[in-house]
Amino acid sequence: MKALVLSGGKGTRLRPITHTGAKQLVPVANKPILFYVLENIARAGIHDVGMIISPETGDEVRRMCGDGSRWGLAIRYILQMEPAGLAHCVKIARDYLGDDDFILYLGDNLIGGGVTGLIQRFRASNAKAAILLKQVSNPSDFGIAEISPSGKILRLVEKPPNPPSDLALVGVYVFSPAIHKAIEVIKPSRRGELEITDAIQQLVEWGEHVDSQILNHWWLDTGKKDDLLSANTVVLDEWIQPDIAGEVDKESRISGRVAIEAGARVVGSTIRGPVVVGAGAVIENSFIGPYTSIGRGVRIIRSVVEHSVILDNSEVREVDRLEDSLIGRSVVVAKGRRRPAAFRLMVGDDSVVEI
Ligand code: DAU
Repeated sequence: MKALVLSGGKGTRLRPITHTGAKQLVPVANKPILFYVLENIARAGIHDVGMIISPETGDEVRRMCGDGSRWGLAIRYILQMEPAGLAHCVKIARDYLGDDDFILYLGDNLIGGGVTGLIQRFRASNAKAAILLKQVSNPSDFGIAEISPSGKILRLVEKPPNPPSDLALVGVYVFSPAIHKAIEVIKPSRRGELEITDAIQQLVEWGEHVDSQILNHWWLDTGKKDDLLSANTVVLDEWIQPDIAGEVDKESRISGRVAIEAGARVVGSTIRGPVVVGAGAVIENSFIGPYTSIGRGVRIIRSVVEHSVILDNSEVREVDRLEDSLIGRSVVVAKGRRRPAAFRLMVGDDSVVEI
């Protein structure tokens, strides 16, 4: 079995945070979302990965993931000139995929529990496809499935105004080569894309068995600020173990699960986990509260930061309280003359905010 990871598209939804980068590379707990995807694929025992990239962000994705050997994977990059749809991605990867079964995995998807269960279900059911589903409260924003009590797919529809159920397609699918024939016959949707949802629906209409599994773990669509903050919270909760490789002076207090990378420095500060602090960061005379990710090279000086994500090389200086905030790269947040209360911010890369 191969994997096809989608890391193209325009990534416009998270602007301004992804204005200068791919949304698949936005870090959660200081690690790009795409790395969690690749880890899940490697854990499922898959070796060969085709990665769809776009002209805008492809170089950055390549630079970050390399040849995949870090995860024991072999990555082949496939350039998609326009984001013409998820089924279009499969179409241009046709030669790479050959006649192998494959897992299609959206590169901006963060799920708990891995994908081994779905692959096992696909194999055991002898189905032509198996898809991962999860109940959602806003079904009109997703591909939606109607299923039989045994999990067989009865009907699929992409972002329906009147959803027939609340079971959303998570963005992880396992396919036999039968999907290629279905992709050949579907037409672009109203949004002008070749939809994988329509291709799977075509299989259903041909009477083929399409199976499903409901995800019992968390799933986070990281396209919006709140999702990214909750992703950070969930991932810090699940992944962070105490690991202090950086320097912590005698005046500082570290409690709970805190990971401080080598080369980071904590001076006269209190950190309450779960928190991750990236390499080269400096925390000085500050309080860092639970569920905070501090990126590489960040400086936090005489400030209080809680439940926030601060991306690489930004600076927070003399801010009485920063919470529930997502701060891009190379941003400066510094106190102005007035006394502030609490701030909630979404600030893009290379900005300056005076408060
Ligand atoms: O998030 C789950 C949803 O993902 C499913 O419920 C929907 O059925 C499915 O169509 C998809 O909907 P979105 O509108 O959220 O997909 P989006 O355009 O955000 O693309 C998902 C990922 O695939 C994203 O990482 C970008 C990448 N992509 C997308 C397109 C359209 C490509 O690499 N190439 C493309 O042509």
